[in-house]
Amino acid sequence: MNANTALLDGIRARRLRIGIIGLGYVGLPLAVEFAHAGFDVTGFDVDEKKTSDINAGRSYIPDVPSADLETVVKARKFDATLDMSRLQSMDVIDICVPTPLRKTRDPDLSYVITAVEATVAALRPGQLVILESTTYPGTTDEVVQPRLEAGGLRADVDFFLAFSPERVDPGNSQFTTKTIPKVVGGVGPASTEAAAALYESVVSSVVTVSSTRVAEMVKLLENTFRAVNIGLVNEIALMCNKMNIDVWEVIDAAKTKPFGFMPFYPGPGLGGHCIPIDPFYLSWKARQNGFEARFIELAGQVNGAMPEYVVQRVVDALNSVKKPLNGSRVHLFGVAYKRDVGDVRESPALDIAALLAKRGASVSYSDPYVPYLVLGGQRRESMAFEASLAAGSDCAVICTDHTAFDYQRIAASLALVVDTRNALKGLELPSIFRV
Ligand SMILES: NC(=O)c1ccc[n+]([C@@H]2O[C@H](COP(=O)([O-])OP(=O)(O)OC[C@H]3O[C@@H](n4cnc5c(N)ncnc54)[C@H](O)[C@@H]3O)[C@@H](O)[C@H]2O)c1
Repeated sequence: MNANTALLDGIRARRLRIGIIGLGYVGLPLAVEFAHAGFDVTGFDVDEKKTSDINAGRSYIPDVPSADLETVVKARKFDATLDMSRLQSMDVIDICVPTPLRKTRDPDLSYVITAVEATVAALRPGQLVILESTTYPGTTDEVVQPRLEAGGLRADVDFFLAFSPERVDPGNSQFTTKTIPKVVGGVGPASTEAAAALYESVVSSVVTVSSTRVAEMVKLLENTFRAVNIGLVNEIALMCNKMNIDVWEVIDAAKTKPFGFMPFYPGPGLGGHCIPIDPFYLSWKARQNGFEARFIELAGQVNGAMPEYVVQRVVDALNSVKKPLNGSRVHLFGVAYKRDVGDVRESPALDIAALLAKRGASVSYSDPYVPYLVLGGQRRESMAFEASLAAGSDCAVICTDHTAFDYQRIAASLALVVDTRNALKGLELPSIFRV
């Protein structure tokens, strides 16, 4: 029996042991999905708190209910560990670690390389290694493959190697790890076949492509598409403001076109671990190939300037009642990067808070998902919603349109409101300033 056949048999019989490196927003839901499908899953992380919480059946990710996690932990289908030497007993190693940017906006592959080095130490014939972290085209075959082959085993022959981008959308109950089609590209046909068979056992649809580079590029096209379209609509919003046109009404009407248009919405700027970062992985790689990715850079400039624009709207609002920003109390509703999640990574609200504080405003916030924040080196607690209304403020800013907020009451209770999300749709008051 060759190595690939053994893997395929193991997948069919659910006999494989699957190791997931990185138990974050991507790795944890995937691990639980594999465990539900009947595989024996071990999660590897460097964060002691995460591994002990997981082993106690406590989920820290809203998309993974603790009850779900507890079921697979109690059934001994899933455990979490800090011990990388256990990778050796895994048949599949799936890498889901962060891929941030350096300060210079270059890709920071250090987490991937550390995870790959742990995999190198555990590599044996017949294993399937999959990279899921978002990264530039060429990472799997230029960075991962040579390291794995350094000990003499050959990819696609002795072991299998594929890239499969994760598309999970935290907080989206309509599309989950299970129901989002999975793109898979291997370094060769045997790798593609093995990785596709594995995912077919847990997700509703698998799309195979001809190489790891195509699979890597697919993810970057998707996220660049979002970044550029958000940049476009943010620019249209700034333009509409100059022309005294309600951009939200324009988008609502435009999206009635049944073809050739897809609505994107303006906002306070890009946030999250993906859209503000991933396109720069692509532009970096394009530059290495002598190509300047102009759309990406331009969208980055427009989106990156939005927090400054929001602050300008706060200044406009305060100006309308003859108040300076310096010394004013400004309260932010929502600091997470998007609705109904607690993730503040790259959240534009953090930039807005910093810009306001730099100009002398006293900044407070309410976010039911973010109990505290460190702003300018100082820890700030989230204010309860009722307390924030009772305390009042010179100007409020709706940064994130969490469903838990009562927007009618925000509009009715507070002197001035800058609305970056059209959460106060339909309300026309002189105290409301829209982005
Ligand atoms: N969050 C999303 O919505 C999303 C969606 C699609 C793709 N992605 C991509 O998936 C990857 C992971 O993102 P995430 O949001 O899950 O990140 P995350 O920060 O939530 O989780 C990453 C986990 O990896 C762990 N880790 C770091 N180094 C490690 C190491 N050497 N060994 C073991 N564990 C290690 C961290 O402790 C953390 O628990 C990134 O490349 C990201 O761009 C994220």
